[in-house]
Amino acid sequence: MNQKQATKELENLRKKITIHNHQYYVLDDPYIPDSEYDRLFQQLIKIEKDFPQLIIPSSPSQRVGANPLNEFDEIKHIIPMLSLANAFDKNEMKKFYERLSNELSSENLAFSGETKLDGLAINILYENGNLKTAGTRGDGFSGEDVSQNVRTILQIPLQLIGENIPDLLEVRGEVYITHKGFIELNKNQKKEKKKIFANPRNAAAGSLRQLDSKITSTRPLSFSAYGIGKYKGKLKIKYHTHALKQLKLWGFPVSVESKKLNGLRECLEYYLYISNKRKKLLYDIDGVVYKIDNIEQQKILGNVSRSPRWAIAYKFPPTEEITQLLDIEVQVGRTGTVTPVARLAP
Ligand code: IVH
Repeated sequence: MNQKQATKELENLRKKITIHNHQYYVLDDPYIPDSEYDRLFQQLIKIEKDFPQLIIPSSPSQRVGANPLNEFDEIKHIIPMLSLANAFDKNEMKKFYERLSNELSSENLAFSGETKLDGLAINILYENGNLKTAGTRGDGFSGEDVSQNVRTILQIPLQLIGENIPDLLEVRGEVYITHKGFIELNKNQKKEKKKIFANPRNAAAGSLRQLDSKITSTRPLSFSAYGIGKYKGKLKIKYHTHALKQLKLWGFPVSVESKKLNGLRECLEYYLYISNKRKKLLYDIDGVVYKIDNIEQQKILGNVSRSPRWAIAYKFPPTEEITQLLDIEVQVGRTGTVTPVARLAP
């Protein structure tokens, strides 16, 4: 095989492997048996070994390839990453709706309704379909360069799939850990006499902010995309719900709970629907998010300080609170078993 043939064959294998990764890790629906996948992967490794000059960072073989870092570099987001204003009750939601309705002179507003995942926001930059860098939110303008760690997350494509690959794309989404992943991770940490994580969010943050990407690669990190930052491409994206559909076609996991909502009544119904479903979800959420669907309308509304005026998070009441330990009562059972009972301030 000469270099020209190797280049072509590598391109072909990388494309195939990327598609099979997507079927397996994102859609949970593999096309081929593991043995066939391993065969393709071994073929890729062999050609890259013979032609090391043809290895590119977005090759599926490069998920764990980096040496540990001393510290994270700073990385600037092309478009700043905003955070969301909050609503805590129906009244605040009504006020939000009325304000937007007045400003847009429209009674019937369309929103994208989404779950608010409780993890860590990241920004992933793709150039010509290849993953270039990934950063944490930081102060919104720049964050920590966690590119090597993000490459180890199998749900995140190193190369985009599908059609209309953009010249430039910033993908925004949440890195999180499922309940099952969290229990397994802590079991493992306990076995290895390492730090036990307090909750899935802390576990996700601790795993993503590892200086050694080999450690990150052992952590059960998941990803869900919820938006686009900078975008340069042929396809015109006019609605946020279309952006979510397109992200899915490019290979990203997108929440199946996302839904287009018309008017305040559907927004409030969606909150109740997700509240009822919350316990059954495989991961933690702390509210629902509403975003004006029409991107032109988003532009008209603009931002105020660090939050968009076209979106809001309607938060669930907290499940965790701080209280005072008033007393410890010791109950002694019939057989002499001693049970301490905490008396807490309401
Ligand atoms: S949109 C333009 N959508 O919540 C608004 N954020 O305070 C930018 N989050 O930093 C955020 N799920 O970590 C958006 N479906 C979702 C989200 C979501 C979780 C987090 C994210 C962000 C914070 C906003």
